[in-house]
Order: sequence, then structure tokens, then C-alpha cells
Amino acid sequence: MNQPSAHATPPRHVAIIMDGNGRWAARRGLPRAAGHREGGKAVRRTIEAAIEHGVEWLTLFAFSSENWRRPQTEVTDLTRLLRRYLRSELKELEQGGIKLRVIGERDRFGPTLRAELAAAEERTKHNTKFNLVIALSYGARAELVAAARLIAQQAQSGQLDPATLDETGFARYLATADMPDPDLLIRTSGEQRLSNFLLWQAAYAELSFVDVLWPDFNATHFAAALADYARRDRRFGVRPDETNPGRTAAPKQAGA
Ligand code: IPE
Ligand code: IPE
Ligand code: MG
Repeated sequence: MNQPSAHATPPRHVAIIMDGNGRWAARRGLPRAAGHREGGKAVRRTIEAAIEHGVEWLTLFAFSSENWRRPQTEVTDLTRLLRRYLRSELKELEQGGIKLRVIGERDRFGPTLRAELAAAEERTKHNTKFNLVIALSYGARAELVAAARLIAQQAQSGQLDPATLDETGFARYLATADMPDPDLLIRTSGEQRLSNFLLWQAAYAELSFVDVLWPDFNATHFAAALADYARRDRRFGVRPDETNPGRTAAPKQAGA
């Protein structure tokens, strides 16, 4: 069949819930931290694969607001690994034209990590080849509540007229302001849930649940998810044009 695929172009923005590090380690009789460490290698592979496929934005869910409720030892391991990752990869991000942005409640981390995150963002801020977004201490409900609080404050002080607020305007109050919405959302480990990730932004994302633990995720799995995405017929609630199936235009969105 030589039919053109529904999407000849790759997804502009891929978001990934990197899940399964603990199970990967448990299956090998290793501590959970070993799974998180191995997961760092999958991050590197995935960034390379995304760039190769012409994806412009990659958002990785690395630590959720709810993950703070894990045992203190695991939280400490995770933050330590994150700092190590930043130190070892920053030069490559910088030289590879990758712009790093962190979303989430970064104030909940200690001053050292906060400073390192800010420095990494600063050092990569002029890069334009690829956008890497890491969601850290991120929870979509917390993000939406923060937006609502700010909007209420601005309305109260007269800076904002609630009657003028629309979806595009609301999206500007989110951590993802200026970012395109994810086109494809992948979750590894076989779980089929969003776990409080990008609830607003993923409203029309295509979902891909991959039965592979995150440390095992590689370029082949990434390519397979993109190939599956290419076969999807995105409609955005609009009846597809029967003379040109699959070519329904995406609605305008904030920052796109
Ligand atoms: C994902 O792996 C990484 C984080 C949530 C930080 P998990 O740690 O959730 O691994 P599983 O789901 O227990 O296997
Ligand atoms: C979601 O995974 C968060 C990250 C991958 C960072 P979890 O492992 O925390 O989610 P649940 O608990 O299975 O829903
Ligand atoms: Mg998990």
C-alpha cells in the first residue's frame, strides 16, 4: 500500500512517562537506585532518537509531586542521581544545541539542586536545535491550582478581567506556557494511566503505552511508537474531511 500515512511529519512534541525503574531493578535483585541509574542511560538514548526523528520538543516525567511520598532514601537517591546526570550531561546538552527547561515545583528541592537547575537552564537558553523539558516535582493538579490562584489574584487586583480569559489565555499561566502541546504521550512499563502528568496539555495527545521497563527503552521502541503515531487519525473533535482523511487541522493552541 502506497497510501500516505496520516502524519507524514513526526510529532512535534513527544512527552514520556518514564516508568518501571524499580521493577527493572527488582527483577535483577538490585536496589531500586540501580534501576534509576540505568534509566538515566535510556534518557540519553531517547534524546538522541528524538533528535534523529525530527522531533522538536521532548518532555520527560522524571519525578512527580506524589513521588515525594516515597521512602526518604529513595527520594535522596533520586535527587543525587539527578544532580549527577546534570553534571555529566550538561556539556553535551550545551554543545548539542539542546535547550533545557525544567517544569514543576522546584522550590521543594534543596538550594544546591535548585541552583544547578537554574545554571543548566541559563547555560542552554540560547540553544535552538532541540527542546528538552524535564518535569521534576511536577503534578498537573498542582500546576492547575497554581494557575487558578494567580488568575484569581490578578482578577482581584484588577490586572485581569475574568470575562476575557479564554483557553489560550489560561494556558499562559501554566508551567508549559510558550510550549506546544504534546502530540504523542508515551508511558513505559505497561501501566496505562497518566499519573497526574500534563492533564491540560495532553487533552488531544495520542497515547502510546509501551510494555517495556524504562531502563530497557531504546531507539527501536521509540521508532515503533512514532510509526504507530504515524498511523493514527487525529481528529480534534472535528469530522475528518472525507476527501482528505487524516488531514484535519489541529486547533490553534497557545504558544504553538
Ligand atoms: C519511574 O520508575 C521513575 C520514577 C517514578 C521516579 P519507578 O520508580 O516508578 O519504577 P516502578 O514503577 O516502581 O517499577
Ligand atoms: C509516574 O510514575 C511518575 C514518573 C514516572 C516520574 P509513578 O510510578 O510515580 O506512577 P504510579 O504511582 O504508578 O501511578
Ligand atoms: Mg512507577
